[in-house]
Amino acid sequence: MSSTSAILMNDTLHVLDNRRSLRGYDSRPISKAHKEQILHGMFRAPTAGNMMHYSVIEVADQKKKDKLVTTCDNQPFIAKAPLVLLFLADLQRWYNFFEYSGVPDVCRERGLDYVTPRESDLLLASCDALVAAQNAVIAAESIGIGSCYIGDVMENIETHREMFDLPRWVFPIALLCFGYPLREDRDDREKTPRFPPHFVYFKDKYSSVDNKDFETMLMSHYGQPNSFFDGAQNIGQGIYLRKTGSAFSAEMRRSVKVALKGWSD
Ligand SMILES: Cc1cc2nc3c(=O)[nH]c(=O)nc-3n(C[C@H](O)[C@H](O)[C@H](O)COP(=O)(O)O)c2cc1C
Repeated sequence: MSSTSAILMNDTLHVLDNRRSLRGYDSRPISKAHKEQILHGMFRAPTAGNMMHYSVIEVADQKKKDKLVTTCDNQPFIAKAPLVLLFLADLQRWYNFFEYSGVPDVCRERGLDYVTPRESDLLLASCDALVAAQNAVIAAESIGIGSCYIGDVMENIETHREMFDLPRWVFPIALLCFGYPLREDRDDREKTPRFPPHFVYFKDKYSSVDNKDFETMLMSHYGQPNSFFDGAQNIGQGIYLRKTGSAFSAEMRRSVKVALKGWSD
């Protein structure tokens, strides 16, 4: 599973194997034909109950792209991406339809609770949105268009709600930037490492990593760094300080907590 040399590859597996996040884009717009291909692949994604609990906003307005740079933890490449798609977990469409269809009335007549969206629905809708997003990523990759996720769009919920007119039961789960690569040689770039599969892939039951094995797990990721972030003593401390314990993670926690209020009882 870790080395491709022993694996029988096909065109699809090559696309999956060669994909890397792309953060530098040629300025030319995505052609109409290519955009149609990406969106077609996206819409064919599996979706829970075939209900499409997601929506996608194409962010075409340059002012909005510029603003996303700052609201998504200062990532300037967002402003330069020719195609920016915002993936939304969306229960609003169905609940508007339920109201329109008289579902509250039928529930009352039958003595049933009329249940509005809850956290479980948000998780399921987020699955739908991300599955569609990843289909778009792979469709794009297959036609030579690179992409990068921006998870930081979960931050600053108040601003993002206002920027995109998001109603209560719509949550921005991911932003995707797309563009043609700047350099023709992008396939020469080093692939990002992954943990050895046995740390992640189990049979029949969950398996925790032994403390003594953490070093092996992380070796391919970080090698033997001479210095760690912010004076940390080891990789664990360094990663925590840089990611989990950072200001952007704190903002994400705050923002998601605010957003979740609309989804609980
Ligand atoms: C949910 C999610 C959120 C991400 N958010 C960001 C982001 O905000 N900025 C960024 O530059 N990359 C982001 N990435 C890309 C990851 O950093 C990247 O996938 C990872 O480093 C592995 O590299 P690769 O995609 O080139 O294999 C995100 C990826 C995922 C799946």
